[in-house]
Amino acid sequence: MTRLTPLTMLALALTFGTSPAMTEEAGKSEYMNSCATCHGEMADGAGPLAELMTVPVPSLTDLSARNDGVFPMLRVIHSIDGRPGIKGHGYPMPVWGKRFQTDIENTGPYGAETIVRGRILSLALYLESIQE
Ligand code: HEC
Repeated sequence: MTRLTPLTMLALALTFGTSPAMTEEAGKSEYMNSCATCHGEMADGAGPLAELMTVPVPSLTDLSARNDGVFPMLRVIHSIDGRPGIKGHGYPMPVWGKRFQTDIENTGPYGAETIVRGRILSLALYLESIQE
């Protein structure tokens, strides 16, 4: 399990206030916009682009089941921010553009880092909430 660092908690608090429901809603819309085309609306790996991929698109609802019952939070966060360079995600030009990179522009008073961390975390928390 990953422990939330103080900066992460601050990012969460700034981005979402204190409502878990809002966090989940934000994460779901990030998912539908950036991930569902391949991983599917139900995260079952059967999105419309899946059949065009040369590597199989995995289901994202059994991440915990495939990891001894523990949601692999850090691995999921890294798979979104690009560190492991998952081929299917199109690195070095990720299929979701700069949405989860800190060099996005026009970020307002809190800066890109906070906004991007919030987006990634809400997305990871959404995925955690749909584990089977
Ligand atoms: C263009 C299609 C595509 C899109 C869009 C996409 N993925 Fe993936 N994803 C893949 C493929 C293909 C793999 C597995 C292949 C590989 O390992 O290179 C994968 C692997 C993963 C994995 C690793 C799964 C495991 O079994 O460990 C995670 C987590 C993941 N994706 C999350 C996401 C999230 C979150 C998004 C949205 C931000 C997203 N993906 C968007 C195609 C996509």
